Amino acid sequence: MGEDLSESEIVDGVPASLVVVSNREPYSHERGADGETQVQFATGGLTSALDPVMRERGGTWVAWASGDADMAVADDGIVEVPPSDPAYQLKRLPLSEEAVEGYYYGYANQVLWPLCHEDTGRMWAEPSFWEQYRAVNDQFAAAVSEVADDGEPIWFQDYHLALAPRRVRDRRPDATLHHFWHIPWPAPSVFRHCPHGAALLDGVLASDVVGFHTPAYAERFLRCVDDILPGAVVETGDGVVRYEGSETRVLANPLGIDADAVRARARTADTTAVRRSVLGDSRSDPTIRLALGVERLDYSKGIPERIEALAHLWDRRPDLRSEFTYVQKASRTREGIAAYRRYRRDVLDAVERVNDRFGTADWQPVVYTEANLDAETLAGLYRAADVALVTPHRDGMNLVAHEYPAACVDGDGALVLSDLAGAAAHIDGALTVNPHDIAGIADAIERALELDAAERRERLRSLRESVERLDSRHWVARQFGAET
Ligand code: F6P
Repeated sequence: MGEDLSESEIVDGVPASLVVVSNREPYSHERGADGETQVQFATGGLTSALDPVMRERGGTWVAWASGDADMAVADDGIVEVPPSDPAYQLKRLPLSEEAVEGYYYGYANQVLWPLCHEDTGRMWAEPSFWEQYRAVNDQFAAAVSEVADDGEPIWFQDYHLALAPRRVRDRRPDATLHHFWHIPWPAPSVFRHCPHGAALLDGVLASDVVGFHTPAYAERFLRCVDDILPGAVVETGDGVVRYEGSETRVLANPLGIDADAVRARARTADTTAVRRSVLGDSRSDPTIRLALGVERLDYSKGIPERIEALAHLWDRRPDLRSEFTYVQKASRTREGIAAYRRYRRDVLDAVERVNDRFGTADWQPVVYTEANLDAETLAGLYRAADVALVTPHRDGMNLVAHEYPAACVDGDGALVLSDLAGAAAHIDGALTVNPHDIAGIADAIERALELDAAERRERLRSLRESVERLDSRHWVARQFGAET
């Protein structure tokens, strides 16, 4: 450390080298049942958006060492990644079990996650959660200060790291600090439920630039600052906050995907083989029309309502039975929290109920899978699906809503999208729904299946154009002011 970054190290308006800081690491090393170490790439929008950026630019990514073999393969916590073709450094931060309990399963996912998804009935703010959240944010700040060169911009990601920018600022008053909040920001009336609102805002505002997916989230953040931090001067029109002698720029900057990469994977995918592998063990014919949902088993995702909507549709339109199968690709998540374990059981029960009620000898209404699909197979599944259903109660952005149209390389496909997902603010061409309106979701699925060919094509064209516009390269450029 200690080298100065000169102006010449700016490429296309974006610093050539970055320090990215997130809870989740892009690559983890896990010990398999056979004792062999395997590398896993994290699924999730944040890691898939930032990994290509870091591959292109280089630098250091600081993240929690969540894999059980992570530290064994690292040198002083550092590994070169991607392991197959090293392009940047991953600095792993080991956390004690107590820290993970309090910071990750506790404060991040039982206070901030429900708060920001405006589901305050699920908030549980044990004092130890806040203590651990503060302690872990301090640990991240110390690790960052160790690896960041002078002048190298530091980019914090997401709700796990609201306090770390202030801690780094205390150590490095001249550092360039960025933050991006990947989940929704709640309305001030909801944010007031948080017992530590002022400290969280103070932490984030130590950054020079703070990004949110939508203008609505950015505007709510500014209103919360105005409401809770009396010392702050908020210029809503310009998106600027003056606080503690410095200035923070607050911007709406929608995250997108690497659309070229998704398209390329979908083009080469063998959709017949993908259909066979996903529907193979089911009672449905592998050539049947498909509706598709892809998500983590998170209570914000609206999966039970969606399955109920399918039941409503098959009830109202018996002629649509046997016409299509719904594939639910689900990933287990955050199972240290009882609400997530319960949610998985609720989803499994809902699937079983619908299959028992409507299933026949040669048609399975819902196929549920928790299989770990690689990126190629997932792109093939998107391409094979006639309709994608993305109906979260709330979602910061939702990148499945981007990946699906990008993968529809045959020019055919329809998207049913919750109007409470951040994606709905940026994507044209979807059939939008209220995620709690079961009858409305059923109507939208019916419509999506029966759109005439010209409207389907036209809607998909708009979807694909929106997704191209939002490509993740533009997201990085906007964050660093190289594009507006
Ligand atoms: O922003 C939400 C997010 O952190 C995404 O990056 C990702 O999709 C998901 O949550 C992953 O959650 P976790 O890191 O808790 O598995």
